[in-house]
Amino acid sequence: MTRSITLRVNGKEHTLEVPVQRLLIDCLRYDLGLTGTKEGCSVGVCGACTVLIDDEMISSCLTLAILADGRELRTVEGLAQADGTLSPVQQAFIDHGGFQCGICTPGMVTAATALLEAHPRPSEDDIKEWMMGNLCRCTGYYKIIESIQAAAAQLRGESVA
Ligand code: FES
Ligand code: FES
Repeated sequence: MTRSITLRVNGKEHTLEVPVQRLLIDCLRYDLGLTGTKEGCSVGVCGACTVLIDDEMISSCLTLAILADGRELRTVEGLAQADGTLSPVQQAFIDHGGFQCGICTPGMVTAATALLEAHPRPSEDDIKEWMMGNLCRCTGYYKIIESIQAAAAQLRGESVA
């Protein structure tokens, strides 16, 4: 059984016919070609597949595409500005070594973006708590926390160490 749905992804509207059991991650990656969102565990544990629906973080590996019908989605591809300038969070991950292999990075950056939109001045504990659903095998997390702190400071207009 299929259903026609309309997804607004990174400000662009897409109407497509999908099987009712199609997962959102597959819809994004295979139907829309947005391969920035990664699949790690496929069971809602690692956070690699994090996208924002109406500014809320969700695991796209657990979400049916039909449940995103008519809603506003943001993926990692939508975080940079139209001219390609990286967002403060993306740039901070580069500047502060917030990634190594990069498989977790789209989910991390997307989750961190949601954090800083909701909490412009997070403490280290706030960051750890918010990001606990995003797992990284490579960095040991300190660099990720540093990156988020630097992005937060920049977004507040403070000088970054
Ligand atoms: S791939 Fe979705 S949470 Fe791991
Ligand atoms: S940078 Fe490799 S898993 Fe996070």
